[in-house]
Amino acid sequence: MNVLVIGSGGREHALCHVLARSPALDRLFILPGNAGTEKLGTNVPGSADDIELAMRVARQESVGLTIVGPEDPLAAGIVDAFQAAGLRIFGPTAAAAQLEADKAFAKQLMRQYAVPTADARTFADFELARQYIATRDEPVVVKAAGLAKGKGVVVCDDPADAILAAENMIVHRAFGPAGDRIVVEERLLGREASLLAIVDGNTAYLLEPAQDHKRLRDHDEGPNTGGMGAFCPSPAVNDYVIGQVQSQIIVPLLDGLRRERIHYSGVLYLGLMLTAAGPKVLEFNCRFGDPEAQAILIRLRSDLLAVLDATVERRLDQADIRWDPRPALCVVMASEGYPDKSRVGVPIHGLPDDADDLIVFHAGTRRADGQVVTAGGRVLGVTALGETLADARRRAYSAVAGIQFEGAQYRTDLGL
Ligand code: AMP
Ligand code: GLY
Repeated sequence: MNVLVIGSGGREHALCHVLARSPALDRLFILPGNAGTEKLGTNVPGSADDIELAMRVARQESVGLTIVGPEDPLAAGIVDAFQAAGLRIFGPTAAAAQLEADKAFAKQLMRQYAVPTADARTFADFELARQYIATRDEPVVVKAAGLAKGKGVVVCDDPADAILAAENMIVHRAFGPAGDRIVVEERLLGREASLLAIVDGNTAYLLEPAQDHKRLRDHDEGPNTGGMGAFCPSPAVNDYVIGQVQSQIIVPLLDGLRRERIHYSGVLYLGLMLTAAGPKVLEFNCRFGDPEAQAILIRLRSDLLAVLDATVERRLDQADIRWDPRPALCVVMASEGYPDKSRVGVPIHGLPDDADDLIVFHAGTRRADGQVVTAGGRVLGVTALGETLADARRRAYSAVAGIQFEGAQYRTDLGL
């Protein structure tokens, strides 16, 4: 089967890496890909948001399955467009992707179907939001309801900060239309975990739990980023927690979606806070996490193409999913200036060859004059397997030490 992967990040390189092992794969195309994916298939120049182009490539290259990495094309309806044209695609429809693309919708659905989450109110009017925040005694979190590239969440220490954040979003439109409505919610305490499920509308298969590191600098300091590294499995998510997530979150959520007549097919990513009162949902994403995918997928020992194909066919219950018992850790190396303005075009030296237990997933990279150079914020995801998490950590950091590009930023405390 010919396969098309949409996207250009580390997540998409990781997807391509495991897809390339599938005996069912014929040709692999990536729109637009990076300097890592070009070693595994054919990069097609263009934008991951160009749905027309994606459909053209799928038709011209007789693609049997298209797999969508990022959220923007999903929220824009790439799956609806492909399905209407009779083309096979893995991912949720625009209606289902609202779980990520509209936090107010997600909150409403969770409230209606009693899925545990932070108490929240939605506002489109700054003055009403201001009055509400001013009456809160407990700290709150202010979120743009729409898609804001992971930057639309402000965790506030006091009401003055929260009012400023609300004003920034609604009045100053810091996130454009994504902030026209905001969600103001209770600030939860606990440990965070990412639990991803593959869902075919009926069956949900939970992937191994991961932990992301969102802050730029060591000790969780500095601004939030798309993610500076991840490890898998997360020891915080034990069987007891998984049981709670299954019964208190997944079951009522899928039931709610069915009652709302929303068929959810694809990856459902639960961003969780493990609170004293049990796991609560911080956010949903409608796709694989990045960099969680790198740490999760390097451990997959089954044929990913067969699993995703079974999902599209609504027979996920028959899929065979097995894991490498070894833990994995992914260290993100980012450009100078990330997450604000990233310096691009910087040559990268010392990239090691891939091994069974060490893979450097590319993200913001491209090839220029035969050399790999930086081309975005997050540049590489250096991902290692080890006998223990500490061992995976040692291997990943020893590879990081050998890779150089000017201005590289990475955390040194991942997995500690
Ligand atoms: P989100 O994009 O909604 O996952 O939010 C980004 C980050 O903000 C999360 O990973 C948490 O660290 C933090 N966050 C979001 N919502 C809350 C909340 N209700 N309480 C505490 N922290 C939160
Ligand atoms: N690493 C968080 C995300 O993919 O949204």
